[in-house]
Amino acid sequence: MNELLHTTLKNKKTGRVPFWFMRQAGRYLPEYRELRQKAGGFLELCFNPEWAAEVTIQPIRRFHMDAAIVFSDILVVPKAMGQKVWFEKGEGPRLEVLQDRKAIERLTTQVEQELSPIAETLKRVREELPKGISLIGFCGAPWTVACYMVEGKTKREYETARQFAAMQEKDFSLLIDKLVDASYRYLCLQVEAGADVLQIFDSWAGVLSEAEYWQWVIKPTQKLVGKVKSRYPHIPIIGFPRGSGAKYMDYDKQIGVDAIGIDTQTPFSWAAKNLSKPIQGNLDPLLLAGDQKLLLQQAKKILEWGKNKAFIFNLGHGIVQHTPVENVQALSDFLLNA
Ligand code: CP3
Repeated sequence: MNELLHTTLKNKKTGRVPFWFMRQAGRYLPEYRELRQKAGGFLELCFNPEWAAEVTIQPIRRFHMDAAIVFSDILVVPKAMGQKVWFEKGEGPRLEVLQDRKAIERLTTQVEQELSPIAETLKRVREELPKGISLIGFCGAPWTVACYMVEGKTKREYETARQFAAMQEKDFSLLIDKLVDASYRYLCLQVEAGADVLQIFDSWAGVLSEAEYWQWVIKPTQKLVGKVKSRYPHIPIIGFPRGSGAKYMDYDKQIGVDAIGIDTQTPFSWAAKNLSKPIQGNLDPLLLAGDQKLLLQQAKKILEWGKNKAFIFNLGHGIVQHTPVENVQALSDFLLNA
């Protein structure tokens, strides 16, 4: 457990600002690519506790972030619920599309058995990780995971999912309820295995209108967070409803998370002024992949904007594949000494 991170998550300022990076384990690291090749497939890597633990720790060895995030994926939950999930080379995730109510009814929420290898990964990481480093467990938010389950792949606007939600509201509600339950179980399993912080990724919150946002982001996330908090009141939760825009203020007021992740498109100064909770973010991942001088200039600005706020330095979205390792090194060194 990391003191700086946990103090920040109690909404108190710290001397140095704690940091970690979304997708800090991944393809920009040569040692990741090596193990990924050995594993054959991405899901094979996720479900191999020895290798997944190694991949989780790889970025910490190089860059000394304040937290490791367990190597897994948000789509292991639909897989554990009984939906077919696979990864097409160079194209990303594919899921067998959920067609009707029957397919939704067939899904199980008892995911513990299927996801036990990921619990094993967390236990192994805990044993190896230095004491002062936090271990973050995570899941996708119900809306974002439902998007993949209904569309079958990454889309830009998720029209099919939005239409499904509007036209077959009862069926979609059943799916969301099942996801709240399965995600709750998955988060509990991660806490039991050693996670001391949780993050909920709502990557596609930004495609929704205000009314949809209340129905499919606010309400289910409220429920999920409430359930986890009633069992583990001491475990901090970070919510990342990417693309929420002005609706970040509703998320801040309505959901009992301990901190809020903001995307690159949200002005940092606006968030610092308008959100009551500690914030996490929001360096542009493309800046991290670009010119080192510009990247450090922006990092400095972000620290300056965040100086009166309990704040966790992170990116506005995940590290991209072509990011130079030296840039991540330079940014980490800068943050460790800031
Ligand atoms: O942050 C970390 O280092 C922990 C691991 C992690 C991964 N995915 C590993 C991964 C986390 C936290 C995720 C979350 C995730 N997965 C999200 C939410 C965050 C976001 O990016 O918006 C989403 C939407 C997914 C679903 C997913 N998984 C997609 C769309 C893709 C393909 C895109 C891509 O970058 O290839 C994945 C694959 C994936 N998940 C990879 C990694 C390292 C790359 C797969 C590979 O090595 O071939």
